[in-house]
Formats: sequence, structure tokens, C-alpha cells
Amino acid sequence: MSLSQLYAPIAEDMKALDAVIRDRLYSDVVLIRQVAEYIIGSGGKRLRPAMVLFTAGAAGYRGDYHRELAAVVEFIHTATLLHDDVVDESELRRGNKTANAMFGNAASVLVGDFLYSRAFQMMVGADNMKVMRVLADATNVIAEGEVLQLLNCHNADVEVEDYLKVIRYKTAKLFEAAARLGGILGGVSPELEESLAAFGMHIGTAFQLIDDVLDYSGEEAATGKHIGDDLAEGKPTLPLIHAMKYGSPEHATCVRNAIENGGRDDFPAVLEAIRVTGAIEATRKVAEAEAQLALNALNQLSPSIFKDSLIQLSLFAVARKY
Ligand code: IPE
Ligand code: IPE
Ligand code: MG
Ligand code: MG
Repeated sequence: MSLSQLYAPIAEDMKALDAVIRDRLYSDVVLIRQVAEYIIGSGGKRLRPAMVLFTAGAAGYRGDYHRELAAVVEFIHTATLLHDDVVDESELRRGNKTANAMFGNAASVLVGDFLYSRAFQMMVGADNMKVMRVLADATNVIAEGEVLQLLNCHNADVEVEDYLKVIRYKTAKLFEAAARLGGILGGVSPELEESLAAFGMHIGTAFQLIDDVLDYSGEEAATGKHIGDDLAEGKPTLPLIHAMKYGSPEHATCVRNAIENGGRDDFPAVLEAIRVTGAIEATRKVAEAEAQLALNALNQLSPSIFKDSLIQLSLFAVARKY
């Protein structure tokens, strides 16, 4: 199912979300508008705001504050991307030059700060302590995840558990927060809120596992990002951990050196080690297992078109090519 088909039940909300985003991007500082509109205008799948809208719908929420919260979540996501591309020295995002490549690192970092703080201004408007706590905690955990990942770079001895912790923090936490917020808006029971949070966490984990697969096996024209960025940064992601664990001593040494040195020179040899060891398929299996855990977490949720959409979203997280 395509994303536009998937978003059909929330089409009106997604349109309204776009208007909220454009409206709240405003600053009288021209460079802020330029950079923010540059990255937001490049598109993006809008999965995290869709998660807020679907879970709010599934939880029976009938107001319109979910659109504002969806925009808050997308702003936090966009801020992390601005910062992440500086840290990762990435040059391509959403099929365009990254903001750091266009405007420089300083502008990217500072506009990222603007988006974080604008998101916080917007969420304070809700005057809902629970909502603020969820978003404040998630934003903090994402930063911890990115720092943990920085510490793991060029370390070929990172274990699967360490890797999983990084992706839970840097990526899954925001999906978890998005799903939890929908439940909070709908006033669900504490148990159901935890189930929705678990759903988001597992989907987010699957989503990042596939992101790490696509960094070795995707098409740039589809992902809109340069393939091989993770290796260039010496990131010990699951495909590499798998290849070291199950490859011949030669393959293991090749991958180890590539992680330790970074750069792109070893990319073809690493791809071969990945191919021979079935590392892509193995990582996909872990993502599928996470998506299944996400589905299981929906068991207690009453049937609705929104619940169906959440199920489709968990399938998309694994099947996606972009
Ligand atoms: C990119 O997220 C960052 C990761 C967590 C892998 P998305 O793939 O959702 O980015 P956009 O918003 O669609 O560009
Ligand atoms: C992104 O991880 C996670 C966050 C933005 C917090 P990646 O570095 O794998 O994301 P891409 O591949 O640059 O989108
Ligand atoms: Mg990156
Ligand atoms: Mg990536």
C-alpha cells in the first residue's frame, strides 16, 4: 500500500497539518525561514505525525488539537534531521542537498535549535502536563541516543544490545511518544496507553532497522539519501555486526577495518561480506519480528479504520523502499 493510500483516512488532517507546519515555521529572521522551508519543503514521509493522528483516531479523540501535536512531533523530527546530517556529514536528504550542504553546519544547527524550541512553544500551548512530559522526555532520549551512537562510531566491538539501545533511543522513542500522545488525547486507560506506546516503540525500532538495511541495499533515487553514509561514518549497524559474527575470518576482518577506518573505500568489499553472510535478510528478520511485536501490542485496541491504518503502518515500516 502506498503512503497516500495509507493516509486516506486522515487526508483532511494531513492537509491541516501542512497548514499548521507552514504557519508555525514563521520567524522574522529570514535565514530561519529559508532553511526551515528548505528542509520542510523537500517533503518527508510524515510518518510520525501520521502516527499521532491515527492513534488519536483509534483512541476515539474527536477534537482538533491532534493536528497541532502532530506538527510538534514533525518539528522535533526535522530538528533531529538537521542536527543528524551535520553530525553524519551527510550531503543528500529527501532527494535534495542537505541543509548543511546548502547553508552550512552553523545554520543547520541553529535552525535545528529554532525548531526544537518552536516545538516546545507549541506544546506549552496545550497546557497539558502529561503531553509536555512525554515530549520533553522523548526529545531528551533522542539526544542521548545520538550521543551514544557517536560513542559507538568506529567501534567494531559494539554488541547487538548496544546497537538496539541506540536505535530505541534515537528513533523508536519519537514513534513511541507519537503513539502515546494519540492515546493521551483520546483519554484511554493507562494499560491501553502503554500498549500504544509499545506499538510505537516496536514500529520505530523496525523502521530504523530497515533504514540501516537501506543504507547498504537501497536505491538513492528512492531513499533520497546517499547509500553508504553509515559505513563512511564507521557506524556499527546490525548488517555489519551480523557480517562480522557470521562471516569468515577474512570477511570479519574486512568489516572490522571498515568500521574502524570509516570512509567509502571499503564499501564494495563490505557489500560482498554482507551478501555472503545474508546480513540484509537477517536484519530484515529482526525488523519483521519487531513489526510483529508492534501488531501484538494492538490486541486490546477496539476495531476501527484507524486501527487498520496502524496495522498498515507497521507493514510499511518493514516493506518500505524509502
Ligand atoms: C529519517 O526518518 C531518520 C530516521 C530515523 C531513519 P524518515 O525516513 O522518517 O525521514 P523523512 O521525514 O521521511 O524524510
Ligand atoms: C537518524 O539516524 C536518527 C535521528 C535523526 C535521530 P540515521 O543517521 O540513520 O538517519 P538518516 O539515515 O541520516 O536519515
Ligand atoms: Mg544520518
Ligand atoms: Mg540511516
